[in-house]
Amino acid sequence: MRDGMKMKMKMKMMVMVMAMAMVIVIQMKATSGQQSYVNNHQLDCYNHFNSTDGYVCNGVASSCLSYLTFRSSPPNYNSPVSIAYLLDSDATLIAKANNISDVDTIPTDRLVIVPVNCSCAGRSYYQHNASYLLKRRSETYFSVANNTYQGLTTCQALMSQNSYGDRNLSVNLDLHIPLRCACPTANQTVKYLLVYLVTWHDDIPSIAARFRVQPQSLLDANRLSSGDIIYPFTPLLVPLTTDPSQILQPEEPPSPPPPPTPQSIPANNSKSSSNKWVLVGAAALLVLLLLALSAFLLRRRCRKPKPQPLSTSSPPEKNNNIVSNDHSPLPETTKSSSISWSSSLGVRSAVESLTLYKLEEVQRATDSFSETNKIRGSVYRGRFKGDEAAIKVMKGDVSDEINILKRINHSSIIRLSGFCVSGGNTYLVYEYAESGSLSDLLHLHPPTKLKLPWKQRVEIAHDVADALNYLHNFAHPPYIHKNLKSSNILLDANLRAKLSNFGLATQTRVVTGHDDDDQAQLHLTRHVVGTQGYMAPEYIESGLVTPKLDVFAFGVIILELLSGKPASPEQEANYNNKDDNNNNQREELLSESIRNVLEGDNVRDKLRDFMDPALRLDYPFDLAFSMAQLAKRCVARDLNSRPEITEAFMTLSKILSSTRDWDPSDELQHSRSMSNGR
Ligand SMILES: *[C@@H]1O[C@H](CO)[C@@H](O)[C@H](O)[C@H]1NC(C)=O
Ligand SMILES: *[C@@H]1O[C@H](CO)[C@@H](O)[C@H](O)[C@H]1NC(C)=O
Ligand SMILES: *[C@@H]1O[C@H](CO)[C@@H](O)[C@H](O)[C@H]1NC(C)=O
Ligand SMILES: *[C@@H]1O[C@H](CO)[C@@H](O)[C@H](O)[C@H]1NC(C)=O
Ligand SMILES: *[C@@H]1O[C@H](CO)[C@@H](O)[C@H](O)[C@H]1NC(C)=O
Ligand SMILES: *[C@@H]1O[C@H](CO)[C@@H](O)[C@H](O)[C@H]1NC(C)=O
Ligand SMILES: *[C@@H]1O[C@H](CO)[C@@H](O)[C@H](O)[C@H]1NC(C)=O
Ligand SMILES: *[C@@H]1O[C@H](CO)[C@@H](O)[C@H](O)[C@H]1NC(C)=O
Repeated sequence: MRDGMKMKMKMKMMVMVMAMAMVIVIQMKATSGQQSYVNNHQLDCYNHFNSTDGYVCNGVASSCLSYLTFRSSPPNYNSPVSIAYLLDSDATLIAKANNISDVDTIPTDRLVIVPVNCSCAGRSYYQHNASYLLKRRSETYFSVANNTYQGLTTCQALMSQNSYGDRNLSVNLDLHIPLRCACPTANQTVKYLLVYLVTWHDDIPSIAARFRVQPQSLLDANRLSSGDIIYPFTPLLVPLTTDPSQILQPEEPPSPPPPPTPQSIPANNSKSSSNKWVLVGAAALLVLLLLALSAFLLRRRCRKPKPQPLSTSSPPEKNNNIVSNDHSPLPETTKSSSISWSSSLGVRSAVESLTLYKLEEVQRATDSFSETNKIRGSVYRGRFKGDEAAIKVMKGDVSDEINILKRINHSSIIRLSGFCVSGGNTYLVYEYAESGSLSDLLHLHPPTKLKLPWKQRVEIAHDVADALNYLHNFAHPPYIHKNLKSSNILLDANLRAKLSNFGLATQTRVVTGHDDDDQAQLHLTRHVVGTQGYMAPEYIESGLVTPKLDVFAFGVIILELLSGKPASPEQEANYNNKDDNNNNQREELLSESIRNVLEGDNVRDKLRDFMDPALRLDYPFDLAFSMAQLAKRCVARDLNSRPEITEAFMTLSKILSSTRDWDPSDELQHSRSMSNGR
């Protein structure tokens, strides 16, 4: 029993000694320098540390130009435009800082420099504000900070600046994102502080070499001393005397062979071994501490089960020290210490080149967005070096549309020729479609319909089917347009159709049997957006998105071409306001009326009534009948009864070639003889 007491005392002493040693180590770190390194505390979401909220406002200036870094991460954030949206920077400035163009696809994991304005704005921490719309149910404060923002913010900072509880996050919630940045202190004779993101195999000497700074100034800037460990996915401030774009130009061969796993043997040089020793030392200390504790607890014969962590939810509530063990960076084994930059040239030429316009150029082209150049809504007519163009002004994130259109080259899809990003707006510059939209031509001014004889209508349907067939089956990756309607079909001077407005388009993905969160998200939208009359029933009812959604809308477009009527009574009412003498108001959607037309008796007569009076009798009735049947199948309520777009396209190809053989005078003759016979 006395032995036991002695042992207990010994253990207590040991624990105290260990604790004191730790305190001394921490003290040593905190004494010299500028900003504290997060030291992997960002992993411990439910505890606050001074270093996790941000860099304290201790600089000379309360705001300054600063640089963040970000590693290109496909498929979402791998171009200056998309990274600019994520980090609320300016695509043009990012492109300039990295000597690439706005839309260049940046190879995976390439370090991108992102200039931002950094400011205290009356707070105690420097920060650059961005915002982020949650996209998946599985996202957490930790995943947003660590995975999406790559460590540019922390879960602690996110939680302190957003009012939602960590279990109350839901899709489409807009999070406020404070990004870490800092301005130089009086003591720092540098111009900028860059936030570098530590990755595997980084160490202080290699980061210092990469940015051409003294290792000591790098250590000082982060209140580190030479033996300290740095961890992957943590930010490190790099003090720079010049603009980083001038430093990071020189070239290296493309990516080195896959880096060895963290468990591999570290290289054999002095600096690495010093790091290793610190690590081993820390691990040894930890093991001793744990041994001491467990022995202590065993002695006490504590019967209480170890308390389980309360939260089993998302952010990893790992013990800091344990995490540091398996995340410990190892010294470099390769010589790659500067950024590899040249291969972006290859990428640049591979990507369909888009012109990057300056705001002044766009303003000049549109006469400062004058009313006379307005086409409709936020679309303007413009002239670049004599070529007409349509310019669409958009707010928010339009990188999706840019990314789709820049890859697509098809004569029946509107061509994006360039764009300009400025002041939160994106100006998309498209080829100009002289004849306006199909909906205007069909429904707005009745006389214009005369410009659309039968042959043109079949050609338009054929063009649209061609474009959809390309999108669904031949584009890489395949897309679903999701917003097909006659106002999104533009016509050029020769009345050839061009599909436009890819703002809602989504990639098609194969649905796996498992109802995995991310997979399901892609095919079931909770946010049903669309235009009445064009939306397929399964989409309205359950948000199901499949290529058959486009097939349904395509069927409606054929019906518009046949009947000359808008897709829904509401739209008809809109058009009729301008034209009071049209009084036969419909009750039904076009997609429903075709069922009545083609079912029951007198199908031929009903179809003749259904057809656009503007066509008069100048159409081959049998072909019109085939087209109406195709449309009826396309608008079937059950999506499995609808044809694939490929089949619809083939049917239309046949109708088109028969139309080309058709001689209008035959039909006239035929119908005259029919009416004579009556
Ligand atoms: C953390 O912040 C508190 C309050 O701002 C301060 O009293 C404390 O000294 C800080 N700790 C360190 C290690 O900087
Ligand atoms: C930027 O890249 C171009 C090649 O696209 C090269 O000619 C030029 O020297 C680079 N600029 C700098 C500052 O390195
Ligand atoms: C910083 O702010 C100034 C003025 O508000 C602006 O002109 C500049 O473009 C901004 N820089 C960045 C990188 O956003
Ligand atoms: C950034 O956001 C914080 C918190 O919402 C706010 O106090 C601060 O003024 C913002 N900074 C700027 C520059 O807008
Ligand atoms: C943090 O993000 C990186 C990728 O950016 C990932 O490899 C790593 O596993 C994440 N860390 C944790 C603890 O999830
Ligand atoms: C989370 O949601 C629940 C129920 O909707 C609500 O009672 C609670 O106050 C919310 N918590 C936070 C921190 O917003
Ligand atoms: C300024 O830097 C020197 C050495 O570079 C250091 O000794 C001193 O403590 C620093 N002062 C402050 C206020 O950080
Ligand atoms: C590491 O260095 C020691 C002596 O410094 C040497 O004996 C050993 O072979 C080296 N190991 C490797 C893998 O280079």
